[in-house]
Amino acid sequence: PTPERWRAVDRYFAETLVGHDAALESAVADQRAAGLPSIEVAPVSGKLLHLLARVSGARRVLEIGTLGAYSTIWLARGIPDDGSVVTIEAEPLNAEIARANLDRSGVGDKVEILLGRAADVLPTLEAAILDGSAARFDLVFIDADKESNTIYLDWAARLGRSGTVVVVDNVGRGGAVADPAATRSDVIGTRRGLELLGTDPRFDATALQTLDAKGWDGVAIALVV
Ligand code: DHB
Ligand code: MG
Repeated sequence: PTPERWRAVDRYFAETLVGHDAALESAVADQRAAGLPSIEVAPVSGKLLHLLARVSGARRVLEIGTLGAYSTIWLARGIPDDGSVVTIEAEPLNAEIARANLDRSGVGDKVEILLGRAADVLPTLEAAILDGSAARFDLVFIDADKESNTIYLDWAARLGRSGTVVVVDNVGRGGAVADPAATRSDVIGTRRGLELLGTDPRFDATALQTLDAKGWDGVAIALVV
């Protein structure tokens, strides 16, 4: 399809099925105004995360990579009032914008932002699970530095349980993921993550290409078996 056609279809799906929401649209606007990159998930993908949370009955969600909390708001709205989202963000400015967006959207009480590198923060989450002070995660959304996807997937299996849903953003990378000549570190990291999902007996997974407001990319959806 020409870009005009697929953008029109994405807009049609979003208008027909996602609609408009002041808090989500303000979150994106404020994120842009603060100079954060325009790499939040597309509205149709935010809605997918929200529905996956609901379909799976998730109560406790882990997100790796908060950015301005656009996806976080979608996830938080998909879990019960006494559920929680833990979201890890390495950039202090992103975390500050995210906190304001979460509070304005009315889900602030359900979301804990942990500031730091995920590699440093994830072991603290395991400690809380092992000492019984926190429950295992029911859904994990991985949307951070693609170079670390295998590390994040390993943590998702360790912090989850049989039945945990794991979603990995950006697995298509404009088609580069299937280009054997690609040398970009994000592409290599994405491919290693997909290979892990395909071979590690802890997971059963698939991936779908996406052609949405964010361009040509993809999303992997896995189950911890
Ligand atoms: C990039 C990262 C993302 O998580 C995304 O959804 C799109 C782009 C990036 O780093 O380029
Ligand atoms: Mg992403």
